[in-house]
This record gives sequence, C-alpha cells and structure tokens, in this order.
Amino acid sequence: MNLKDIDLNHIAIIMDGNGRWATNQGLDRTAGHAAGEFSLSRSIDWSLDNNLEWLTVFAFSTENWSRSKEEVDFLMFFNRDILIRRREEFNDKGVKFHFIGDLADERIPDENKRLMSETQEITKNNSNLNLVFAFNYGSRKEIYDAITKVSKNDIDAINEESFRSNLLLPEMPDPDLLIRTAGEKRVSNFLLYQLSYTELMFVDTLWPDFDENQLDLAVKEFENRVRKYGNA
Ligand code: IPE
Ligand code: IPE
Ligand code: MG
Repeated sequence: MNLKDIDLNHIAIIMDGNGRWATNQGLDRTAGHAAGEFSLSRSIDWSLDNNLEWLTVFAFSTENWSRSKEEVDFLMFFNRDILIRRREEFNDKGVKFHFIGDLADERIPDENKRLMSETQEITKNNSNLNLVFAFNYGSRKEIYDAITKVSKNDIDAINEESFRSNLLLPEMPDPDLLIRTAGEKRVSNFLLYQLSYTELMFVDTLWPDFDENQLDLAVKEFENRVRKYGNA
C-alpha cells in the first residue's frame, strides 16, 4: 500500500485507554502506560514500512497534570526512559523526532527537557518519518500563544499563513487522519486548529491492544472516505 497514492501523509493518534487496560488486568494504571510502549513502537515501525511521512502521537496533555502525583511522576519517568532506551534504534531507522507542547513548563523535569532537545538535535537530519510527540501539549494554549506572538507583530498583516507560522511546528502538515483509541469520541484539546478537515476515526480497542492490523483497517476506511473541503 502506498499511502501517498491515497493522500495519506499524516496520521495523528490519541493513545487512550492505558488505565482501563491495566485496571481490566487487575494491575496498577501505570502498567498500562508501560504496555502502551509496544503499541507505539509497532505503530512507528508500521509507519516506516508504509512510508508514512508524519506520525503524531499525544503522549501527555496540559490537563494530565491533574492526575495523581504517582501517575504523573511515572509518566515523566517513562517518557524519558523511552528516549534513553529507544532513540538510537529509531535514529538508525531514520526517524526524525519533534516535540510539541509547553516544553519550558517548570513542572517538566530538567532531565526530560534535556533528552527531548538532545533527541531532536540528534535526529534532525533524518528523513524516513517525522515523529511528533505531543508532550505537555494543549491546543488552546498553542493557539493563544500563537495569537500573543502575532499580536506583537503587525496586526494588519495577519492571514492564515502568517498565523500558522506561529504555531508550535509550522512545517507540520495538518493530519489527514486522526485515530483515537479506547472508545471516547472527543478530541480532548488535541490539534484543534489543525484538525479542521481531518478524517476522524474512533476505535474501541484500548491503546495497549492496538496494532498493525488496526492501522491497516484504518487505512482501508480512510480510502473509502470522501474528503470534500466544503465543495459540493
Ligand atoms: C492514555 O491512557 C495515556 C495518557 C493520557 C497519558 P489513559 O491513562 O488516559 O487511560 P484511560 O483513559 O484512563 O483508560
Ligand atoms: C488525552 O487522553 C490525552 C492523551 C492521550 C495524552 P485523556 O485520557 O487525558 O483525555 P480525556 O480526559 O478522556 O478527555
Ligand atoms: Mg484516557
């Protein structure tokens, strides 16, 4: 399957359901996050195998700080641990990492900040797959930060293009397809501006059970969607 032939260049995923997966197994919620790593690496490998240009994953939202200290601490630890253990492997596979979100937030441990900027630097010349981690990401904040930046410039010069250049990753194309796992049918403050014409898919599978078959099925469904962009 050549994804370019069907204009599928960017898939965004809201990786949801880790907590429920763990609870279903009688485990601590954090075990669900740990189990989700396998689905993430399978999705990255699938994206590489299928020549996808952009894969964006929602890893931690600006609202997720409201979870228990234990869970937040685990998620911070886990996100840096993945980078420490896996970035060489993904670098070798030609993955270019990007991180979007409020990365200067003082609640993010310095070690996470260091690893994220180092990983971006190490992988910046790769070109097989752009992998965007939305980390401490909230779309409302991205939009009002962009407006704040724009308002300091010539306010009369604002148009869609100049506005976009103030978003967190201007070179990122809008997602063609959004997949949310675990049955919730909402976007939870993810890419509100960029999802304007994205095809939305909601699957019941919990994130740790998500795999290549589900991605293949999503592509099949995407192929059957008619994108109209307001045309008749
Ligand atoms: C998604 O799984 C992972 C993060 C939000 C970090 P959840 O932890 O939200 O899992 P559920 O929705 O409680 O099952
Ligand atoms: C969205 O999932 C955030 C991530 C997947 C990182 P949530 O589980 O936080 O969303 P809500 O609370 O169900 O809307
Ligand atoms: Mg959830």
